[in-house]
Amino acid sequence: MTSRTQETHIAVSHTDPGLADKASALAAQLGLPLYRSEENTPALLLTLTPDRLELRQTGKGAEGPLFVDFIGGAIEYRRKQGTSRKEAIARAVGLKGGARPVVLDITAGLGRDSFILASLGCTVQMVERSPVVAALLADAIERARQEPALIEIMSRLSLIVGDSLDILRTWQGERPEVIYIDPMYPHRSKSALVKKEMRLIRQLVGDDEDSDQLLAAARAIATRRVVVKRPRLVPALRGPEPNFSIGGKNSRFDVYLSALTAASPEQKT
Ligand SMILES: C[S@@+](CC[C@H](N)C(=O)[O-])C[C@H]1O[C@@H](n2cnc3c(N)ncnc32)[C@H](O)[C@@H]1O
Repeated sequence: MTSRTQETHIAVSHTDPGLADKASALAAQLGLPLYRSEENTPALLLTLTPDRLELRQTGKGAEGPLFVDFIGGAIEYRRKQGTSRKEAIARAVGLKGGARPVVLDITAGLGRDSFILASLGCTVQMVERSPVVAALLADAIERARQEPALIEIMSRLSLIVGDSLDILRTWQGERPEVIYIDPMYPHRSKSALVKKEMRLIRQLVGDDEDSDQLLAAARAIATRRVVVKRPRLVPALRGPEPNFSIGGKNSRFDVYLSALTAASPEQKT
């Protein structure tokens, strides 16, 4: 199922009459209907508030709003604690010594992994194919760029809206050293391990059925390595075996070295 099919269950709304024009422009940009209270309420609302853009579930048992925030909350705590180059994600992308690889994150989602990598000094280009997820991300980027403490990190972070498979297959110009992939894994349960945010994103975009193809396309482009994030106990993506894996708390990072890197032992973790 494509993100475009699923996004028909969503409309754009706003909480403040002063945001009506902005909401209309956003709806037109995304090709989504504007929510009108007299109509049936869709399952999801992309809601403009004076502070930020939010994705809201409607109906009984609705989860709290989803928004992307690089300034406060968990990500601020993590940034202030200091993200360490010893962390699994840092070792997985090959951060050591002075190395700060250029990373293409081809499944950007809510941008948390990209933000962590940018905090560690990597230049990160994110790609997201869901226009709604990308709009949430773009809104957070715009807000974070106004925050003095984040100017340097945000200068290393950019976003492309599009399908990574198309982008990789028609790639031109300088190739990224590292390609990072964190596809949506088809969890069927409502387990606590599947965070609320990811449940909402899944409701919006569905499962990522093309992850195996993404891995193959990424391996053809990355000059150093491809890193695939997986839930800790699930099998690797279909294709060649990873060269090695690094375990995190709930996740595992499967690392596929490019031919050149594999031949040079000092380039491994
Ligand atoms: C599990 S989420 C990624 C979470 C992200 N690592 C984070 O830290 O927030 C997967 C995201 O990848 C996007 N995606 C999947 N396949 C894609 C593709 N071929 N091109 C672009 N985006 C893709 C999905 O729309 C979804 O938003």
